[in-house]
Amino acid sequence: MGTILDGKAIGAAVREEVKQGVAALVAERGRPPGLSVILVGEDPASVVYTRNKEKAAKEVGIAGELHRLPTSTTETELLALLRRLNDDEAVDGILVQLPLPKQIRADAVLDAIDPAKDVDGFHPVNVGLLASGRPSLVPCTPLGCMRLLREAGIPLRGARAVVVGRSNIVGKPMAQLLLAESATVTIAHSQTRDLPVLCREADILVAAVGKARMIQGDWVREGATVIDVGINRDTDGKLVGDIDFASAEPRAGYITPVPGGVGPMTIAMLLANTLSAARRRSLARHAHDLCQ
Ligand code: GUN
Repeated sequence: MGTILDGKAIGAAVREEVKQGVAALVAERGRPPGLSVILVGEDPASVVYTRNKEKAAKEVGIAGELHRLPTSTTETELLALLRRLNDDEAVDGILVQLPLPKQIRADAVLDAIDPAKDVDGFHPVNVGLLASGRPSLVPCTPLGCMRLLREAGIPLRGARAVVVGRSNIVGKPMAQLLLAESATVTIAHSQTRDLPVLCREADILVAAVGKARMIQGDWVREGATVIDVGINRDTDGKLVGDIDFASAEPRAGYITPVPGGVGPMTIAMLLANTLSAARRRSLARHAHDLCQ
């Protein structure tokens, strides 16, 4: 029987830590960290995610604001908003919810966010720093997975890790973070041969593909740690992960449930990133003032 990695409880603990850090920063510099969340269009899942992000920010004392723009917004209009937020001293974190409508190039938008305010960690500067082993602002979902592994005391050095999925948002940064902890990391994807055999080699198996219950229990090595990043609806409309929990759980040493595993960690780490961006920007400002 696998021990459940309880993202709800650990996420709540992270949010409490952030709340205390925010209070300390307010006492020091007289204003809270600011987080601007931008949603373009009406994608129902994105509407829920962005509302939750704004609400969670406010609950820990971060000044969260949600900018809702119509589906017809042009790239030029969105870039103009980003310039304004980049220049706004009260804004410490900027997040543009993905996916964007098709007339807007996501790359152009991500490139336009000030890397010091890039709380999603998607700007090429932050991607490059992570790949060079100098992590700065790191994508929230993989950061949340690492926190779950740390809380459970899972040994990473020398461990075999298989990350299924190669997205910029989860798979690639997750692999970088595991590598930085000296795991032996394989990134698998839709073209990988003999995927079940590869998965069975893993001490740590991370699934981030977006296919309901794709990974079966007999792909899981006895005692392995199983991290399920997927959030899918099955044919009955039930919320399920990329892992077939019922067959994987008896074999796993540790396993994350869906919902209540990785999901709650993502928002908690967004808040942590916002606090850390605010702290760093305050220090930079302080240093700048000393040089005037
Ligand atoms: N869409 C799905 N996941 C994410 C995320 O982590 N950040 C943003 N901005 N958009 C997303």
